[in-house]
Amino acid sequence: IRLIIKNRPLKLPLLFQFFLKKKSLEMLRAFTKCLLTNGVAGRRMMSQGSLAGKVAIVTASTDGIGLATAQSLGKRGAHVVVSSRRQANVDKAVSLLRSENIQVTGTCCNVGNSEDREKLISTTLEQCGGIDFLVSNAAVNPFFGNILDSTEEVWNKILHVNVTAAFLLTKQVVPHMEKRGGGSVVLVSSVAGYQPMQGLGPYSVSKTALLGLTRALAPDLAQSNIRINCVAPGIIKTRFSTALWQSEDLRNELLKQMSIKRLGKPEDIGEVIAFLCSDEASFITGETITVTGGMNSRL
Ligand SMILES: NC(=O)c1ccc[n+]([C@@H]2O[C@H](COP(=O)([O-])OP(=O)(O)OC[C@H]3O[C@@H](n4cnc5c(N)ncnc54)[C@H](OP(=O)(O)O)[C@@H]3O)[C@@H](O)[C@H]2O)c1
Repeated sequence: IRLIIKNRPLKLPLLFQFFLKKKSLEMLRAFTKCLLTNGVAGRRMMSQGSLAGKVAIVTASTDGIGLATAQSLGKRGAHVVVSSRRQANVDKAVSLLRSENIQVTGTCCNVGNSEDREKLISTTLEQCGGIDFLVSNAAVNPFFGNILDSTEEVWNKILHVNVTAAFLLTKQVVPHMEKRGGGSVVLVSSVAGYQPMQGLGPYSVSKTALLGLTRALAPDLAQSNIRINCVAPGIIKTRFSTALWQSEDLRNELLKQMSIKRLGKPEDIGEVIAFLCSDEASFITGETITVTGGMNSRL
C-alpha cells in the first residue's frame, strides 16, 4: 500500500498495512450485512437470480440477438435451451454459455421444419423437465428488391418461417407451460414491422404480422396464466443486418433516424426480453416493446 504525498511514494509501516486490511475486511462484512437486511438492495441482488429453476427455449440462439437473449436469461439463473440449423454453431454456443456458468442444453432446430420443432420440445422436456419461457427469435429473409418482383415461393418461405412457425411453436409449448402453472412467450419482430424497409417488403410484412399475432394470442393465453409479448428491435449490429450497417452512407442515413446515435447491440434486446419473461413484467401482455434508439415506430 502506497500513499502519494507531493508526488513521492511513501511505503507504510507493516503494522499500519495490517490495520488497513483488517478495516477493509470489516467494511466488506458490514456491506454484505447491509445487502442482506436492506430491502431494496436485497431485491436487486435477488433479481440477478430471479429466473432460477425456470426453463427457457430460445430459437435461433447460436448468434446475435438469440445468443444474447440466452445469456441474459441464463445469467438470471434460467436453464436455457439453445438451437439453430447447424450443429457446429450449436456446439460453439453451448461451450460459450457453459464457460459463463450458464446452465444450457443445445440441439439442432430449423424452426421451419415440424420434426425439428417436435425434437426441440421433446429434448427440452427430457433434459430440463418442463418449459417456462419461449423466445421465438428465428427469421429468414431470402429476398431483397422491389416488392412487386417477389414470388409466391419467397412469400411462402418468409411467412412460414417468420410467422407460422412462431405460432406453431407457441401452440406446442402451451400445454407444457400450463403444467407449470403459466409461462411467458416473447416474439421477436422488427422496427421494419412498423415502417417497411425499402427492399425488404415481404420480410417487413411478416414482422407486422407478429405484432398482430401477439395481440391475437394474448387473451386466450392469459386464461392459462401465460403472457405473450413482442420485441421490435431497431438496427442491431449482427450478421443478419450486415447489409444495413456495413456501407457508411446507409449507416449514417439510418443513424440520422435515431435519437441515440449508435447501432444497437444484441444485449440491448436480450435484456428487454429477459425483463418480459420475469415476474417484474407480470402485468404486461399483448404488447410490443420497440427497442430502436428512438427510431420512428408507429403503425
Ligand atoms: N439485427 C437486426 O438489426 C434486427 C433488427 C430487427 C429484428 N431482427 C430480428 O432478430 C432476429 C435475430 O436476428 P439477428 O440479427 O440476431 O441474426 P443473426 O445474428 O444473423 O443470427 C441468426 C441466428 O439464427 C439462426 N437461424 C437462421 N435461420 C434459422 C432457422 N430457420 N431456424 C433456426 N435458426 C435459424 C442462425 O444460426 P444457423 O445459421 O446455425 O441456423 C443464427 O443463430 C430475427 O428475427 C430478425 O428478424 C434483427
